Amino acid sequence: MRKITVESSLEVYSSLQELPNDIQMLMQQAIEARAKAYSPYSNFQVGAALSLDNGKIITGNNQENASYPSGLCAERTAIYYAGSQHPNSKITRMAITASSKTKVTDKPIPPCGACRQAILEYEIKQKQPIEIYFMGKVGEVAKSSSLTNLLPFIFDKEVL
Ligand code: THU
Repeated sequence: MRKITVESSLEVYSSLQELPNDIQMLMQQAIEARAKAYSPYSNFQVGAALSLDNGKIITGNNQENASYPSGLCAERTAIYYAGSQHPNSKITRMAITASSKTKVTDKPIPPCGACRQAILEYEIKQKQPIEIYFMGKVGEVAKSSSLTNLLPFIFDKEVL
């Protein structure tokens, strides 16, 4: 038997104002995207904004469906758009914010497991880490320096 231990860490900022201007602006785009979420079933709105190395910002939000599994998270809506429209650009950063119509979201809300797997694909494809910033509606903002920091023991193309 051998044991593998993986260490992950996040930086946590007390508010968005503690972060550099370009991150605040990216998060602001995520907030605007969040306001346009289509989430009548969960009443939970998520917005994501991605910075590309060509200077463009791509946003997305969660899109729900009466057939629940047919819906898609904000992060994948945004990253698949970036992948389809800007296949040769690298994603440098991603900002995510979530709010709820039924409860206060004042803690950083990380991307779900399926979104982590989807983001991982692009991090590997571009051979460059993606910084991920996430928050609720208000309060602290967490920063992960890469996707793999959020997803240890990855499943990737090497195993196929
Ligand atoms: N959701 C996201 O958009 N991103 C996540 O990382 C987690 C969950 C959405 C999916 C669904 O529309 C709602 O939030 C509740 O799960």
